Amino acid sequence: MQAWLRDLFDGRPTWINALMVFCAYMTFVYVPWDLFVKPVAEDEEVWLGILFTGWAAKVTTPFHWAIYAAGFHGFHRMRSWMWPWAAVYAGTVAFGMLVWPILYRDSFLVGVVAFIPFAFLTRALWRAETLFGAERVPLRERYGEWALVTGASAGIGAAFARALAREGMSVVLTARRRDRLEALAAELEKNFSVETRVVEENLAIAEGAERLVRAVSDLPIAVLVNNAGFGAAGRFDKLQAERLRDMVTVNCVAPMVLTRRILPRMREEGKGAVIFVGSVAGRQPLPLHGVYSATKAFDLFLGESLYAEQREHGIDVLVVEPGSTETEFHDVAGEIPHEGDSPETVVEDALEALGHQPSVVSGWYNWLRANAAQRIPPRSLAVHLAREYTERQTPEDLQ
Ligand SMILES: NC(=O)c1ccc[n+]([C@@H]2O[C@H](COP(=O)([O-])OP(=O)(O)OC[C@H]3O[C@@H](n4cnc5c(N)ncnc54)[C@H](OP(=O)(O)O)[C@@H]3O)[C@@H](O)[C@H]2O)c1
Repeated sequence: MQAWLRDLFDGRPTWINALMVFCAYMTFVYVPWDLFVKPVAEDEEVWLGILFTGWAAKVTTPFHWAIYAAGFHGFHRMRSWMWPWAAVYAGTVAFGMLVWPILYRDSFLVGVVAFIPFAFLTRALWRAETLFGAERVPLRERYGEWALVTGASAGIGAAFARALAREGMSVVLTARRRDRLEALAAELEKNFSVETRVVEENLAIAEGAERLVRAVSDLPIAVLVNNAGFGAAGRFDKLQAERLRDMVTVNCVAPMVLTRRILPRMREEGKGAVIFVGSVAGRQPLPLHGVYSATKAFDLFLGESLYAEQREHGIDVLVVEPGSTETEFHDVAGEIPHEGDSPETVVEDALEALGHQPSVVSGWYNWLRANAAQRIPPRSLAVHLAREYTERQTPEDLQ
């Protein structure tokens, strides 16, 4: 609980934390009560000092809820768009505080007294621009010189390698396709003047991960990106047993072994980062992708557990959970082609969340879908809904 509170309140001035708590109270307690419990006849809302009552008040309550919810999110993440939005909103409240007593209490003095604190708040928020959207400290400065990215020959892994190199990190690139890795290494060295090392390795082989660890044992790996992975669309009994076993080895065993071997050095340094590339598929059972969703649930649980274990020792652990992403993944999995986000978006979301939270779903629509699927319907219904979704992506002969 203490660690959670520290995480929640760290890095913001007390007065901003107080505003965040107020917005949270309004979002999760007061406005829902106002909207769903308070009788219409008793409802009152004030906008710019003008009083609305009854249904006119009730229909505007959701707007109040949206404002406070956005405020909570904006203060929580200290988003750059909070400035000047928060100051403008505080300004409208100050104006309302001045106008409302004049219109309805016939008292200019009460209006002025109520106006003053909100005017000060507006001014403070207006002057707090630099607190919002502060530049992220470059990863090399934050963690160290070298990063290791598995599955760097394509898709999300290649995007991670480029992003890390852009932040000045030297990168170990590993996968099975050496030619792709060498081309990417040359690109990174040329564009970002960083060092690279290419390690060709098959992580589906039991000793693959250990061999990879030996190949980088001379390097101080400060950021580990457990990205290599694949899926296979189809009914469990129609998929090759060997392919499924390889999937568990690549998606689960390799990240676990690599993290276990590389983490102690980060602990000695007192800093480092481990990123697991999970999936929204890891949030729920996925018929026709059962083993894949189970492997991603493994990554999610392992990564989130390590976040809580390692945080106080300076190690940031994050599970990034992409939804459908435009890479070679769908092809490799044998899925019917469908649209997705760009791998760069996934990486951007991951690097922004790193150090702040245990996991992040990339894309708000994926977040909504993952949470709606996981939390709202009973599991007996959720699995059938999930099947309807995966059926559309799975060739008929594999269903
Ligand atoms: N694309 C999506 O829709 C999506 C959605 C959610 C999560 N993800 C996750 O994102 C991660 C990256 O996938 P992606 O979308 O970028 O797919 P991708 O384009 O197919 O890339 C997969 C990477 O993993 C490597 N890899 C696969 N099997 C390997 C093995 N046996 N040994 C070593 N490396 C291996 C591949 O390299 P080689 O073939 O050269 O070995 C490649 O670099 C995966 O963990 C995946 O589960 C993807």
